[in-house]
Amino acid sequence: MKALILSGGTGSRLRPLTYTGAKQLIPVANKPILFYAIEAIRDAGIKEIGIIVNPETGPDVERALGDGAEWGLTFVYIMQDAPRGLAHAVKISQDFIGNESFLMYLGDNLVRDGVTEFVGKFRSSKANSLILLSRVPDPQRFGVAELDGDRILRLVEKPKVPQSDLALVGVYLFDSSIFHAVNQIKPSWRNELEITDAIQYLIEHDYQVDSHIIDGWWKDTGKPEDVLEANRMMLEYVEGSIHGTVDESSSISGRVVVEESAQISRSVIRGPVIIASGAKIQNAYIGPFTSVSREVTIENSEVENSIILEGTQIVDISTRIDSSLIGKNVRLNRGKQKPKALNFVLGDNSSVEIL
Ligand code: TTP
Repeated sequence: MKALILSGGTGSRLRPLTYTGAKQLIPVANKPILFYAIEAIRDAGIKEIGIIVNPETGPDVERALGDGAEWGLTFVYIMQDAPRGLAHAVKISQDFIGNESFLMYLGDNLVRDGVTEFVGKFRSSKANSLILLSRVPDPQRFGVAELDGDRILRLVEKPKVPQSDLALVGVYLFDSSIFHAVNQIKPSWRNELEITDAIQYLIEHDYQVDSHIIDGWWKDTGKPEDVLEANRMMLEYVEGSIHGTVDESSSISGRVVVEESAQISRSVIRGPVIIASGAKIQNAYIGPFTSVSREVTIENSEVENSIILEGTQIVDISTRIDSSLIGKNVRLNRGKQKPKALNFVLGDNSSVEIL
């Protein structure tokens, strides 16, 4: 069995961060989202992974992941010229997959308990496809499956009147019958080849499409608030460890990771928090569920429930920064001149809320 991770797409809901990088490389608990998918696939015993990339972010993704040797895996990069849909990504992967079965994993999804049980169930079943589902309180927002026992009868995209609360999670298992299906379907109204149409094709042509329901937490990190929620969830699993320097006038409580060469002085840190190497925290408060990346400076400021990416400087901000996702090399500071005013240089599609 092989795997396919989808790391192309547009990432429009995560602009402006996705103007300069792939959303799948945004770190949660200081680890790129994509790494969680790779670890889950490795843990399920799959060794060869095809990674779908696009021309814009492909080079970054390749640089970050390498050839897979770091995980004891083999990666093959498959270029998708434009985001033509999930089923299009399957279509262009046929040479890589060959006649094997495969796990398809959307690279912006996180599944807390991994996919080992899911893969195990497929290996011992006769189904042509197995679809991972989870119960959700708001099925109108998802692709939803209607079942008869384990068997899937119908998939409906964002139903107005949902007949079930079982949402598609973004992880699928297929045998090679899916290649026949993706070659039969036509692009949808949004001009994409939809994986739900391909699966519906299998169902209507008497292939066996079964379901596997997970109880554990999962998240599609398509929007900033989803990334922050994922960060909170993953920080719940972090064990505290202090390798950097913490001066005597600082106080650390709860589970806090301070990596080597990070410096904390005259500050209060309340976990769960992770502070990466080279970060400088001075006379600051870092509150629960915050991830601070490498070489970040936070001085005379308060931050909680946030993700701060590499090289950013936050200095003399008197109002607490909360629930924020701040990109790389951003400078947030307080000027000394009068009159007092807000002074911005913001990229397109930035969002600032003054509370
Ligand atoms: P989506 O989140 O559905 O789409 P997107 O990445 O274009 O984001 P947005 O809607 O905010 O513009 O994609 C799910 C995953 O699949 C994501 O990891 C990107 C990937 N993907 C591809 O690799 N190729 C594609 O053609 C599409 C549509 C998505």
